[in-house]
Amino acid sequence: MNAPVYVALLHYPMRNRTGEQVATAVTNLDIHDISRSCRTYGVKRYFIVTPVTEQHRVVGRILTHWSSEKSREWHPDRFEALARVQLVLDFEAVKAEIFSKHGEQPEVVLTEARPMPNTVAYADYRRELESPERTKPVLIVFGTGWGYSDVFFPEVHRILAPVHGPKDDPDGEYNHLSVRAAAAIVLDRLFGR
Ligand SMILES: C[S@@+](CC[C@H](N)C(=O)[O-])C[C@H]1O[C@@H](n2cnc3c(N)ncnc32)[C@H](O)[C@@H]1O
Repeated sequence: MNAPVYVALLHYPMRNRTGEQVATAVTNLDIHDISRSCRTYGVKRYFIVTPVTEQHRVVGRILTHWSSEKSREWHPDRFEALARVQLVLDFEAVKAEIFSKHGEQPEVVLTEARPMPNTVAYADYRRELESPERTKPVLIVFGTGWGYSDVFFPEVHRILAPVHGPKDDPDGEYNHLSVRAAAAIVLDRLFGR
């Protein structure tokens, strides 16, 4: 695959349970688990996006801890995964960072549990990315809270089809995965062997 792949976990602009636009809190699990999935599936950088400076202080401390020599020595796998994490204030900073590395803007690919119009199937997108001519950077976006605020949608170029369980579940359809589980499944479908 020639296209460099990036992941962003958005904490703003998200919706809360009543649909208001909010910044959600970063969770330690999301930092660790998604960084390990990113490392496993060859993602170049995992951006954690939050405008809340207090969250930068807390997450910054966690990242500093895991970038120490002691962490490298005692937990090399975790160290290696967390080295891919980059904390940024907004989505513009993510795009600017990718542009500075590759000289072009990424294709922004949304993941979403709800059915949306014009989604792309995993197999089709995977085939597209496997084409040797396909070199444009890819930025796969995951959400938090109750999903993305509508103001984010103009940033989006493609939407991946929702992940579903087996057909005809006698208990009915349920596909509200944790973002950590969704990230692992999506990355595996696109890049796993
Ligand atoms: C809305 S957030 C909820 C975060 C929540 N606090 C948690 O992790 O349990 C979940 C995110 O995971 C992804 N996701 C969850 N279920 C999904 C599905 N069935 N298909 C695709 N993406 C999904 C989407 O990126 C979505 O924005």
